[in-house]
Amino acid sequence: MNRRHFLLSSGAALGLGMVGWASRASALPPRLTIQTARYALSDAPTEGMVSLSPDAPPPVLRVRQGEVFSVDVTNTLADMTAMHWHGLRVPNKMDGVPYLTQFPIGQDETFRYAFTARDAGTYWYHPHCNTMEQMARGLTGVLIVEEAEDPGFDEDLPINLRDFRLGKDGQFIDLYTARGAARSGTFGTVMTSNWQREPLYDLPAGGLVRLRLVVTDTTRVYQIHLPKVEGQVIAMDGHPLEEALPWPTAEAPLFVGPGQRVDLAIRMPGEEGTEIVVLNTQPGGPRTLARLRAKGQDAGRHLAELKPLAPNPLSRPVLDSAELIEFVFGWSPSDTPPNNGFCGSLGYTFWSINRVAWPGDAAGGGPLATLERGKSYILRLRNESPNDHPIHLHGLTFLPLKSNLRPIASNWTDTALLLKQETIDIALVADNPGDWAFHCHVIEHQKTGLTGYLRVT
Ligand code: C2O
Ligand code: CU
Ligand code: CU
Repeated sequence: MNRRHFLLSSGAALGLGMVGWASRASALPPRLTIQTARYALSDAPTEGMVSLSPDAPPPVLRVRQGEVFSVDVTNTLADMTAMHWHGLRVPNKMDGVPYLTQFPIGQDETFRYAFTARDAGTYWYHPHCNTMEQMARGLTGVLIVEEAEDPGFDEDLPINLRDFRLGKDGQFIDLYTARGAARSGTFGTVMTSNWQREPLYDLPAGGLVRLRLVVTDTTRVYQIHLPKVEGQVIAMDGHPLEEALPWPTAEAPLFVGPGQRVDLAIRMPGEEGTEIVVLNTQPGGPRTLARLRAKGQDAGRHLAELKPLAPNPLSRPVLDSAELIEFVFGWSPSDTPPNNGFCGSLGYTFWSINRVAWPGDAAGGGPLATLERGKSYILRLRNESPNDHPIHLHGLTFLPLKSNLRPIASNWTDTALLLKQETIDIALVADNPGDWAFHCHVIEHQKTGLTGYLRVT
């Protein structure tokens, strides 16, 4: 058993992948085998889950920045699949989008994904074919690109935040509803952190912890805050902050939509046994997502000891010469039939981009826009609907510039959370050639029309 396999399997067994920085990926490509799983998410084991082992959550994958990430993805399910590496700027062929970048992976087939991890930070992986079905059943995992230099934390704790739609017997109920798909999406019934309900983590007292919160839910926009904690927001959607964000509070929680991530640096309380909580603000009062308990002697660390994270090698758009392209997200024209194909259909069409409803996982027609390689663009994203849409772009990283509704911070991201009736301008350099999926990350919206792609030539 090589070290990489050990890390993968031990992370899987613990369901978290909490390891010190010294963990290093070995050169041997592991195999990720998509399979059915069973796991006790609530009291009784849930059957018919989808994961990468028979009885554990998808593992936290780690690779060092600048190194090659290489995995063989084998599909043992009867349904087709494809794996996408959310937020990573990969060559188009490695992006995992069926028909657009590869053929779907059939039963007992294997596809090798290999690319250099250019950007450090917190990312994640999920299927992009039968996306609704496979994600709802569990196939969403954290992918961490470790900085080339040790950022100096005592502990690193990724938390995969997501719901499952289970009945009282702990078994899956309908994974979505037409009503949900046409509105905010269908919410799960069991909220989990690393597939556990309100898990408790022991962390070094007085130590510095990097908490990586990863929203892999298909629907829920989290509103996160940590009361009475000494901490700092250090990265959003993988990238170190350009513009500081205030520490979230009950009054002003941090909105983290489906697909988004936030990295927090926290100092654990010095006194052994003291607990802090990660809360989600929601109707009916705040909900505990995870508890962190100080363990051992006070390590006496200070947040000021942390060096700022080094910026990733992104090209900054030139706004003066940038070309403006407009997109509108809204209802679908009523006569669009739902798609069929090998990647699953919800059986409805509700949404559209620029009045065109696209067929779910895979784009069917031509690109929404063609961008010239190396040029700067401003994309005007207009949400004309009464629902929120986390709009995600593959392959390119962008800077939000302004909103018509609220002040927004200009931090590098791959997902812009558009509130109802909001218009956000984003800017980017079209520096990665290929066809890049562009869609809402509420998967029911994606699957019922709110999808398309941009071409960079
Ligand atoms: Cu999280 Cu099309 O991706
Ligand atoms: Cu993506
Ligand atoms: Cu949406």
